[in-house]
Amino acid sequence: MTPTRFAISRDKLPALVQAMPKAELHMHIEGSLEPELIFALAQRNGVALSYPSVEALRAAYAFTDLQSFLDIYYAGASVLLKEQDFHDMAWAYLLKAKADNVVHTEMFFDPQTHTDRGVPFEVVIKGLKSACDRAKTELGVSASLIMCFLRHLSEEAAFKTLEEALPFRQHFIGVGLDSSERGHPPEKFARVFAKCKELGLHLVAHAGEEGPPAYIISALDVLNVERIDHGVRCVEDPALVQRLARQGTALTVCPLSNIKLCVFKKMEDHNLKTLLQHGLKATVNSDDPAYFGGYMNQNFLATFADLDLDADDAYTLARNSFEASFVDAQTKAGWIAQLDATFARFA
Ligand code: HPA
Ligand code: ZN
Repeated sequence: MTPTRFAISRDKLPALVQAMPKAELHMHIEGSLEPELIFALAQRNGVALSYPSVEALRAAYAFTDLQSFLDIYYAGASVLLKEQDFHDMAWAYLLKAKADNVVHTEMFFDPQTHTDRGVPFEVVIKGLKSACDRAKTELGVSASLIMCFLRHLSEEAAFKTLEEALPFRQHFIGVGLDSSERGHPPEKFARVFAKCKELGLHLVAHAGEEGPPAYIISALDVLNVERIDHGVRCVEDPALVQRLARQGTALTVCPLSNIKLCVFKKMEDHNLKTLLQHGLKATVNSDDPAYFGGYMNQNFLATFADLDLDADDAYTLARNSFEASFVDAQTKAGWIAQLDATFARFA
């Protein structure tokens, strides 16, 4: 267990969570499309939606599992057609990130969701990348992109997407694996991940959200990932927990997502505190904030309120987010120094 370092009272936690700099390492940019923006883009592009109003769409966000969410999430993404649409979506998220004191974000995007509808890869990545560049200059927020392969599709389709992406290799820092987890184990993508490793890309994968601990093990051993997205089901395998702690493998945990998708019944049942107590490098993230009821700070606040977490945990989680990020050591050290200064002000 981490020794107590900060004598900061619990009533200061909301202000501390707001003030502390942090990195977001697990968010799907298509999952930041708010219903209002979905309707605005549908109108701009002449796309018909199967919901009559913003309110009716939002009312449909009652999910029973991952698949019930994905069905609505892919339908929402159908309004994205032009480079400007991708830019506007990412920019709206980056403004929210800035408001939450997220100083660095590594955003997932799902090119196959768009290319399979006839939107060229180039349109997707150029719109997203221009928003990332604008965030750096206008907001002082560092933003990079991680391209995800949809695991319900074939490895062949993933290879095709990688080929389309290669002319834009400098626009993204890594690859990930998302979509329907059950029945689509990481090893299905062994060869494409090996190729991505050769290309010098960072590697991550969703594992252990709905899938078993064995998927976490194969993400590590077969795909050679550097971080596990979600990973909360690792606790079912004590040897795996020990291994993750020993290796310092980061888990990008998404508390509000886990409640919305019924991975845990209620926040009081969430295992974030347990993960920290096991010495795991857990981080807090928003996943699909427009669908799951909150951006970064709302994830922190909801978790802290129900899991008896304290200022030491806030520090550990924020520090973990920088340590697990894909930036150079000097940049990490700069952000950790800012984090230390914030905690010193509150102590
Ligand atoms: N899990 C898997 N795939 C996803 C998710 C998620 O939470 N969000 C968007 N794609
Ligand atoms: Zn996710």
